[in-house]
Amino acid sequence: MSEKKRLLSGVKPTGRPHLGNYFGAMKQFVDFQDTHESFVFVAEYHALTSERLQKSPELLHSNIIGLVKDYLAIGLDPEQTTLYTQGSVVEVTELAWIFNCLITVPYLQRAHAYKDAEARGKNVNVGTFDYPALMAADILIMDADVVPVGKDQMQHLEIARDINDKFTAIYGKTFRQPEARILKDTEIVLGTDGEKMSKSYGNTIPLFATRAEIEKGVMSIVTDSAGGLPKNVYAIHKLIKSEAELEKLYAANEGNYKALKEALVEDLEVFIAPMRERRASITDMEVVATLKLGGEKAKELASAKMKDVRKKIGVTI
Ligand code: ADP
Ligand code: TRP
Repeated sequence: MSEKKRLLSGVKPTGRPHLGNYFGAMKQFVDFQDTHESFVFVAEYHALTSERLQKSPELLHSNIIGLVKDYLAIGLDPEQTTLYTQGSVVEVTELAWIFNCLITVPYLQRAHAYKDAEARGKNVNVGTFDYPALMAADILIMDADVVPVGKDQMQHLEIARDINDKFTAIYGKTFRQPEARILKDTEIVLGTDGEKMSKSYGNTIPLFATRAEIEKGVMSIVTDSAGGLPKNVYAIHKLIKSEAELEKLYAANEGNYKALKEALVEDLEVFIAPMRERRASITDMEVVATLKLGGEKAKELASAKMKDVRKKIGVTI
């Protein structure tokens, strides 16, 4: 048995990741892979709640391959981190069903993601409503100890812990109790408009942006004309440079927003280019081979866990 704590996290394959995904969650996967027994997966069944992706199976498929390239390009090493797709562990959806029978509709109605979708007048599908149960299954089936995520996922972690407690109360202790790991400084990375950076707000800088995209993104950063510190520029700059370095730069260019934005473009290019180049060299074949190995390993653990679960709930014949 490994002494290391087990880390697990996933990202939905909904398109290109941005600096918010990286600094909020993905970077932690890399930072912790030496010290943890790590599992990182592609959450394609969560992504399937999106109607856009339902309408384009080809796009979902290429997003899945693309996300694994992203994982490899940021430095996840398949020797250290088990990389897999949710679909290679079908037991996850089985466990989600079992969890569905333990939680109530009013309980899930209190979840922020569902409440937000409802408030926007969306015709919410059952998958979106039930999203937290599937996420709890992802986490608990692998006996995760720590789950690095951005702050917006905090409530989902709380729900996973609640579900674990409910399961324990009925059937006895079966899963480890997971903890969210959220980095204080980057728990909510802000976008070019000063709001939370998010694919749905059109305020992102892609993690693998080309130089032209970096320029476009940085030039679109909203600066107020009050003078002094252009806080939206600074907030993004702070992700990649120390405050000591920035203090000098921003003092020397006080009020000169153009120069500060140009400096940010250069610094982002230096930061992004090596990852972008690495990503371009990763082949689909390499991705498929990585997922095959990782999928087998994840499945082995999950199926052992499910044997125990089925026995406990009384369905093993
Ligand atoms: P988006 O909101 O852009 O659709 P996802 O929901 O796919 O992003 O999030 C993937 C991971 O990135 C999650 O762990 C989430 O908490 C984290 N994340 C997303 N946006 C941010 C942000 N602006 N700041 C910090 N973490 C974020
Ligand atoms: N819900 C997460 C997101 O929107 C993705 C996710 C699915 C996840 N299952 C998970 C994250 C399990 C951590 C652990 O980003």
